[in-house]
Parts: sequence; C-alpha cells; structure tokens
Amino acid sequence: MNLLTFRTEEDLNRAGAGLIASLLQIKPKAALGLATGSTPIGIYEELVKLHRSGSVSFAKASSYNLDEYVGLSGSHPASYRCFMNTHLFDLVDIDPANTHVPNGLAVDLEQECDYYDAMLEDAGIDLQLLGLGHNGHIGFNEPDDSLIAGTHAAMLQRQTIEANARFFDSEQDVPKQAITMGVAGIMKARQIMLVVRGASKAKIAQQALTGPITTQCPASLLQLHPNLVVLMDEAAGAWA
Ligand code: GLP
Repeated sequence: MNLLTFRTEEDLNRAGAGLIASLLQIKPKAALGLATGSTPIGIYEELVKLHRSGSVSFAKASSYNLDEYVGLSGSHPASYRCFMNTHLFDLVDIDPANTHVPNGLAVDLEQECDYYDAMLEDAGIDLQLLGLGHNGHIGFNEPDDSLIAGTHAAMLQRQTIEANARFFDSEQDVPKQAITMGVAGIMKARQIMLVVRGASKAKIAQQALTGPITTQCPASLLQLHPNLVVLMDEAAGAWA
C-alpha cells in the first residue's frame, strides 16, 4: 500500500488528477472507475483544468461509476449521474456514450446489476477512484456480517442516509436503496486510489488501513489489494 499525506488540498487534488492523467497518457483507452461524494470533487476540478490546458484527453476513455440511488433519474440533481455530468463529463471530451452509471430507474434491479457486472468484466477497470464512508463503506457496500461480491441493490444504513442528506432537500428525500458495485468488482481494478479528507474520517481511515480485515469495515478489504494508493489530507492522515 502506498500511503500519501498532503499538506494542502490543492496538492492532494493535483496528485490525484495527475495519477489519472498519467494513466490516460499511457493508455488513452483506459477504463476509469469513478466515484461521487464531496471527496473526489477537487480531483475532478483539477482534471478539468488539465483537460483545458491540453494536457489530458478523455476522448478514447470509458468510465464506470460505483453506484447510483434507486428511484432517481439521471436528471435528478442529487443523482450520481447528474453529479458526474456536472463535475466532469460535461466539462471534458469524454464521449457520453462511454460513460456508465448504474440505472437507478431500472424496473428489474437484478437484471440491471447483472448487466453492469458484465460490462465491468468486459471493460476491466484500470483505475478505481474511491471515497470512504464514515462507517467504512466503499461505494454503498455497508458494514455487515457478510458482503456481496457483485453489483447489487443495497439498503443504506441510517448513518449513510444522514451523511448524504446534505445533497437533498431533507433526510426523508434520501433514497433508502442504491445500486452499488460489489467488493469483488472494486477489488478487480488494476489499481485503486482511495481518497480521504478531513479529521472526521481519520479514525475510520486508520481502522480501515491498519486494523483487522473485516466485513464490518468494508474498506479494510482494500488492504488485500496489490496496487492501492491512498491520498489523504493532513487531518485525515494525522495517524499515518
Ligand atoms: C457516499 C458514496 C460513496 C462515498 C461516500 C463518502 O455514500 N456512495 O461512494 O465515498 O459517500 O462521501 P463523501 O466523499 O461525501 O464524504
């Protein structure tokens, strides 16, 4: 595991965007595993800057997002599809047809999950970007006695609903279910970049990265990945 702590958010964002940009320079057709939440926003902003300066092109790349709320259409402002369009896809030269986010409106969720897994298998994710939930979740793989390997519809835990309520008008509006890539799907990526910011995540980051590997902390499974890079700001990485 490569653990990197940055003095400023700007340094962290540049490093994160730099990793993605270098991959695209070496492999223009890279399959990117992307994430939402507040954590990756700065990295996407840096990528947009790099794109505008001509340093990076997404023209041949494809993207696969980790998760999407069940019941939200892509035009809902709190949907992850809308998030991705706003923060990255609409601002760079990626072909919209090559951007993939699970369909939260699918009538048959099981079928949608199978379809998504088949696509992931076919694409082979080169780099998976991840944030970290306060309870140790990755994507929407919540702490539990067991975890699910493939893409599946997951029930969100109270803590996750509360944490994500800031993106909705009220807590009641937060969907209770989401489609998420499973832990096997995530672990299959050739490289994983976990990004953690803020003092409120220091404890869970330490637990996930140095504590026991347990399904009660899904991010702890990342310790098993052969090519994991962790980018933390000073507050989140104070223990490292
Ligand atoms: C959500 C997402 C995760 C994300 C996490 C952390 O629940 N499903 O993919 O990593 O929240 O979000 P944030 O970066 O806003 O703290």
